Amino acid sequence: MIRRIDALEAEAARAFDEARDSGALEQSRVRWLGRKSELTQLLRGLKDLPAPERAAVGARANRTREALEERYEAARARLGGASPPAASARDVTLPGRCLPRGHEHLISQVLREIRTIFHGMGFSLAEGPQVEDDRHNFGALNMPEGHPARAMTDTFYLKPGALLRTHTSSVQIRVMERQAPPVRIICPGRVFRNEAVDATHHFEFHQVEGLYVDENVSLADLKGTLEHFLKSFFGPETEIRFSPSYFPFVEPGAQVDIRCFFCGGKGCAVCGPLSEGWLEVLGAGMVHPNVFRAVGYDPERWTGYAFGAGIERLVMLRHGVPDLRVFFESDVRFVRQF
Ligand code: DAH
Repeated sequence: MIRRIDALEAEAARAFDEARDSGALEQSRVRWLGRKSELTQLLRGLKDLPAPERAAVGARANRTREALEERYEAARARLGGASPPAASARDVTLPGRCLPRGHEHLISQVLREIRTIFHGMGFSLAEGPQVEDDRHNFGALNMPEGHPARAMTDTFYLKPGALLRTHTSSVQIRVMERQAPPVRIICPGRVFRNEAVDATHHFEFHQVEGLYVDENVSLADLKGTLEHFLKSFFGPETEIRFSPSYFPFVEPGAQVDIRCFFCGGKGCAVCGPLSEGWLEVLGAGMVHPNVFRAVGYDPERWTGYAFGAGIERLVMLRHGVPDLRVFFESDVRFVRQF
């Protein structure tokens, strides 16, 4: 029987070595190593042999099987790694699957756009902390303790004297404290107010602050700058209106509106019938002398303007987003649209 195995091994090895293509090789594999092959039958029949013979024949047959399997693999590699039957079911022409790619959030895109517009007018970028103290958020902005304007915003206090900034105006103070005039900065950033959340209010949102201080700065400079900004952002047809308003840190103070581009100024659900077709987009004004005094600038010599806008509001108006909450929900179905 051992002799039969030897002969079988020689014959099979030759068949593998001489196979010309993967089809022929596969036939040889079935013939010599397949389930119905002589070798497999022989291994299956081992249990019927007498014990001494069983051990010897078994060892020999197993060695032959291993040797032939190696021989077969070598032949397969030689023929260009023709795939085994199961793998040939793969369809290599199927298009690949794309990995999901990240997407910049609309608010981040707009912040970048706003920075670019103001860089073009010579403004540089300033930053300040989100956890502020009383002086930078209120006191130095002409809102001493007990000032009624403090009640205009509901403030998150962390402990006495430490709070989450309610506006980016605090950064005006930080910049002027560390830098002598002239100053020309914008500060985009996150702000916090203790508001009940609804479609137009959130406890966190973004503002962009602007500050320009030099000699002989006038209200006309402010108007020109904001007009350029708003036309760049909302389009060259944008109509702009200034009207008097009150903020403690500016005098005079102004509210800046643009003509409602949904109804063209007739009054609609967006601008509201009472606002007569105008949308408020900014607060602004000439820096109050008390603010200059608080940072050690001479109010007799220096003049300046400041402005502040809510980013989400600008974006909602430009893109017709009806609900502020979507900006904070990280829903990719929203984010992907822009
Ligand atoms: N800080 C104001 C707010 O949060 C916005 C503002 C108004 C900023 C007038 C200014 C300004 O710099 O001059 O509502």
